[in-house]
Amino acid sequence: MPTDRYAVFGNPIAHSQSPRIHALFAAQLRQEMDYRAILAPLDGFAAALNDFIRAHGKGANVTVPFKEQAFQLATRPTERALAAGAVNTLTFDDGEIVGDNTDGAGLVRDLLDNLGYHLAGKRILLLGAGGAARGAILPLLNEAPAELAIANRTADKAHRLAALPAFADHSSGIRLEALAYLELGDRAFDLIINATSAGLSDAALPLPATIFADNSLAYEMLYGRETPFMTRARATGAQVADGLGMLVEQAAEAFECWRGLRPTTAPVLATLRQ
Ligand code: ATR
Repeated sequence: MPTDRYAVFGNPIAHSQSPRIHALFAAQLRQEMDYRAILAPLDGFAAALNDFIRAHGKGANVTVPFKEQAFQLATRPTERALAAGAVNTLTFDDGEIVGDNTDGAGLVRDLLDNLGYHLAGKRILLLGAGGAARGAILPLLNEAPAELAIANRTADKAHRLAALPAFADHSSGIRLEALAYLELGDRAFDLIINATSAGLSDAALPLPATIFADNSLAYEMLYGRETPFMTRARATGAQVADGLGMLVEQAAEAFECWRGLRPTTAPVLATLRQ
């Protein structure tokens, strides 16, 4: 039997941790599989993916900037992919391309299992209204927080997200709203999640210090760098987490989709943190 082949597609892709994470999962669960990073040309994602399918690829992860295109190419999107409008996990199944999104589930699992942070009844502020924010909304709503406020520089985009039927249908009993940063006023939140890409350019978000409640948790989806958001949150006494746990958990979720086995993530996360 040839070794089962998987890959992550992105551009850029050289610094992706996914091949390392999946190699650690495969070793842990004694799975014979090959997982590599593939740099797709910016205008050639579909062609690169089709080549991989023709070469008997079993599944793929998709990262920036191809997640929306992957959603378009999926012939069978899952409910969470439809809600996210983006796909990070593809499974090639008898001519079908199953498109899933494990990012939001990875975030929630990192919060619940790795950080021991329970979301039920909490006041959550989600910063950003791009693809990363959208993917987090349904999994967060499913944990029954008291409130989910979406704030974005371009407030219109936040309003459009909050109004999507996929979210309205899952928000009974939850205060789901959208606002601009300036409208945050003196409101406080238990959990503040930064799903913007502002940290990549070291840009600070115009957030009032009052949004950090006592014992609040500030969660930065980026990893591998101290962002202005993290520094700001630390200065107010908030707990701070980065997105490395989310990265490992979304990978575990994808691995389970493909192999039917759930890896133990703690040792993998510890290895990556070293
Ligand atoms: P991703 O897939 O990472 O979510 P995206 O869809 O391009 O990427 O979305 C980027 C998000 O980061 C948006 O919410 C964007 O705000 P706008 O919608 O107003 O553009 C936010 N963002 C990026 N740079 C920012 C900055 N310097 N200040 C505030 N928000 C920023």
